[in-house]
Amino acid sequence: MGPSGSGKSTLLNCLSGIEPVDAGTIRVGSYALSHASESELERYRRECIGYIFQSFHLLPTLSAFENIELPGQLIGMPTAERTERVQTLLDAVGLTHRADHKPDAMSGGERQRVAIARAIMHRPQVILADEPTGSLDSASGDRILDLLESLSRQYSIALLLVTHESSATRICERVVHMKDGCIVSA
Ligand SMILES: Nc1ncnc2c1ncn2[C@@H]1O[C@H](COP(=O)(O)OP(=O)(O)OP(=O)(O)O)[C@@H](O)[C@H]1O
Ligand SMILES: [Mg+2]
Repeated sequence: MGPSGSGKSTLLNCLSGIEPVDAGTIRVGSYALSHASESELERYRRECIGYIFQSFHLLPTLSAFENIELPGQLIGMPTAERTERVQTLLDAVGLTHRADHKPDAMSGGERQRVAIARAIMHRPQVILADEPTGSLDSASGDRILDLLESLSRQYSIALLLVTHESSATRICERVVHMKDGCIVSA
């Protein structure tokens, strides 16, 4: 948590290897990001990280099923395993009946549930979520938080959540505050 401009998104971007660091080192599991080559970073992003954005970032021309399937395709998962996993995830986020719908035909809460399923499709070690409830009404936001909590537990995936809403910390084991680019309490 932290005020606008305190560096929360920048931190997530550094942790996901999108933003190069100017100083210091970043280690996530066995990966030393600050010394990784571009191809190592690409592998790290594909295999270890799931990202969830405030504005969903689904591909508009793909159905819910196809959006969720994509990270599996990128790591070369066999078709049968992919299909089974997407169906399990659609069920877990309550969207089996929306499998063939495109993002345009879904509500914000439904889109974010597709984005959550997509983020865990490849069983990453960490989910990075940048204000995942920021575009949702409070009831949909609550449902998203419950899903993030239960799925991260079920699949043993660490969750790093950026939020403006102090109520969202109910699903967190630890709250870290940032200010002016620094962690001020942890
Ligand atoms: N690519 C960039 N180049 C230079 N400065 C940047 C860049 N991206 C962000 N900044 C600056 O870095 C600081 C932190 O921005 P960041 O987007 O990480 O904040 P934030 O905590 O996520 O804010 P918000 O709550 O508004 O999303 C801000 O002062 C911002 O203007
Ligand atoms: Mg931000």
